[in-house]
Amino acid sequence: MAKEFKVAVLSGDGIGPEVMAEALKVLDVIEQKFEVTFDRNFANVGGVAIDKEGKALPQSTIDTCRAADAILFGSVGGPKWESLPPDEQPERGALLPLRKIFGLYANLRPAIIFPSLTGASSLKEEVIAGGFNILVIRELTGGIYFSQPKGIEGVGRDRVGVDTMRYSVSEIERIAHVAFQAARKRDRKVCSIDKANVLSTSVLWREVVIGIAREYPDVALTHMYVDNAAMQLVKWPKQFDVILCENMFGDILSDEAAMLTGSLGMLPSASLAEGSFGMYEPSGGSAPDIAGQGIANPIAQILSASMMLRYSFAMTEAADAIDQAVKKVLDEGYRTGDIYQKLPGEKKVNTAEMGDAIIAHL
Ligand code: NAI
Ligand code: MG
Repeated sequence: MAKEFKVAVLSGDGIGPEVMAEALKVLDVIEQKFEVTFDRNFANVGGVAIDKEGKALPQSTIDTCRAADAILFGSVGGPKWESLPPDEQPERGALLPLRKIFGLYANLRPAIIFPSLTGASSLKEEVIAGGFNILVIRELTGGIYFSQPKGIEGVGRDRVGVDTMRYSVSEIERIAHVAFQAARKRDRKVCSIDKANVLSTSVLWREVVIGIAREYPDVALTHMYVDNAAMQLVKWPKQFDVILCENMFGDILSDEAAMLTGSLGMLPSASLAEGSFGMYEPSGGSAPDIAGQGIANPIAQILSASMMLRYSFAMTEAADAIDQAVKKVLDEGYRTGDIYQKLPGEKKVNTAEMGDAIIAHL
């Protein structure tokens, strides 16, 4: 009997539904090729949910997500909802609660530069020739963004701002497992980032990561101070496979790594909970400036679906097939407007044509 997975499909606003349609077309093909069924359950989220149900994250949407094996998310937001109180706006009112409700503690952001798109990067050609593929794994629910005490104490010039960085052994262990397991599906290298020469959390971080590494003798572990990592990313990004970070370091380094590729709009992301549950979404937003024109680049959404197959459904072969199809289509010169460089051999296409080209290569 064919396997079945339940997918909560939350397309959201702006280009969300347009690029989601292409990701769903790709899943149709995977169903035929890999004897699997994706039971899609559509729900409103973000601005469209505010308009139709009065709230960015309605209870019915939470229920749909809870009944699912994974969430495929588009993007939310737009000028129409910007005058609402911050907590009711599409992003604050939907994304942050979803992360919290589903305990999405591991954020995975690949920074991929495809060999045929190296011209978009700000790095020198010889540094990026042949492309690179880095996966930043960021702890998302602990560290200095959440630990207590925090706040501003006192009055006037006597005021003191306080933030606390706190990590428990179990928080470090679970994110380390995510990194080593991800590395096993890639080049089997983990570089753990810390500041163990200064921070106590980092001393513990390093000790615990070394301990977990013993369970993965096939994965090579190295350590790097965060300031050096920021430098090395620019100097020689190809040295990295999986980069493992606590929350704040990962926030900074994942943006740096993504921008090295010069095409943020093509990058997917995954946010994982304990077990196999996860939420998958493009790194970019709802792009109101081009929404409704059918010209958005669907690749980030399609690669997000690929990550869902890889991390929530253990369908490595299908995920590899999608990633390869995307690479081939780019090699052949298919370009949506955002990555079109007017070079010889490039074919300018719209959203649906890019989706069709990828499907044709599956
Ligand atoms: P954005 O990522 O939506 O757009 C930035 C630029 O990149 C725009 O010029 C846009 O046209 C382009 N772009 C983004 N994705 C693209 C794609 N797939 N194909 C072609 N071009 C693409 O970020 P911006 O403009 O800061 O935010 C717009 C709205 O999106 C805001 O309401 C913001 O709150 C929301 N947003 C939502 C996110 C989410 O749902 N996770 C994340 C970031 C922003
Ligand atoms: Mg950031």
